[in-house]
Amino acid sequence: MLILGIETACDDTSAAVVADGKDVLANIVWTQNQVHKRFGGVVPELAARRHMEVINYVIQAALDQAGVSFQQINAVGVNCRHGLLRSIMVGVAAAKAIAYSQGIPLIGVHHIEGHIYSNIIENPDIEFPHICLTVSGGHNLLILVHAPGKYELIGRTWDDSAGEAFDKVAKILGLGFPGGPIIDRLAKQGNPKAFDFPRPMLNSPSYDFSFSGLKTSVTTKVAQIKSQGSELNAADIAASFQQAVIDVLVAKTWKAAKEKNIPVISVAGGVSANSLLRTTFAELANQQGVRVIFSDISLCTDNGAMIAALAYYKYQQGYVSDWDLDALANAPLGDLGLIYKKPLRS
Ligand code: KG4
Ligand code: ZN
Repeated sequence: MLILGIETACDDTSAAVVADGKDVLANIVWTQNQVHKRFGGVVPELAARRHMEVINYVIQAALDQAGVSFQQINAVGVNCRHGLLRSIMVGVAAAKAIAYSQGIPLIGVHHIEGHIYSNIIENPDIEFPHICLTVSGGHNLLILVHAPGKYELIGRTWDDSAGEAFDKVAKILGLGFPGGPIIDRLAKQGNPKAFDFPRPMLNSPSYDFSFSGLKTSVTTKVAQIKSQGSELNAADIAASFQQAVIDVLVAKTWKAAKEKNIPVISVAGGVSANSLLRTTFAELANQQGVRVIFSDISLCTDNGAMIAALAYYKYQQGYVSDWDLDALANAPLGDLGLIYKKPLRS
């Protein structure tokens, strides 16, 4: 079964063609970094306009790369939950037009569930239950995945996500946008022990996160160094900040896995591309004998393949959306009520 997946949650316009939920025949991502970098963050109005300009080209590029035509596509999956509302609406409108004109099913899906499924594409044998840390610019969640489609939210951020903190610290250091990959690269030349930044909520009993205090601490330190006229070693700041974030993300996830006695962890979302996060989790897996799953870097940040894969599994479970499918900026994970009014098969 060939599914066309469309993803426009934030500033990436993406379309993919995936066979049977696992074989990625094409996964085109048109990033808008050039549009937003001069603002140091995503400007929602500009993001939506750019999606509208490029969406047809991106979809055509995905079909071309996969070597298929619209007539060979069996269903269209689209992110209709979670992200910038006007951006999502562009993807949903495109998906509806294609599905309606081709007479094929439309399957709306939740963006964060898509991130969870980005790991299932390459690891369809993943055990349930498992703990999923999904962390990007727009969210920072610890989820107990009981079974496909059955999620228990056990931890969330009280303020900023880790991705947001990466982007803001890069902005403070004048490094560019998006900050995550830039800090990741720069940190390799710095000393992670140069500055003792706080590890927020590291020892709290909950599985929640908070990164805004850490960001403020970096801001204050940078201002202090500048006001003293001392030389600012951006690589040391980047490495010390990154170490603080990764320490918290890994420790909280491990705490959840240990306390709930679940030996399988998956890590998803844009920040899961981070090299220190990946090596630290790999070390944890070795030391503690747990299984830690990451997806290929191309599937960590927003992409259409994860949406197509998830749509495949939803379709297998008997779900399709109606033509009045709407778009929401926020929706609870696992709530199917508004996405699928009626299961295809019960
Ligand atoms: O999943 P994603 O593409 O979009 C959202 O759903 O937000 O994630 C984008 C976020 C950005 O904050 C970006 O800075 C961060 O993921 N990111 C990284 C890395 N690559 C992307 N953060 C840390 N290290 C990276 N290598
Ligand atoms: Zn995302």
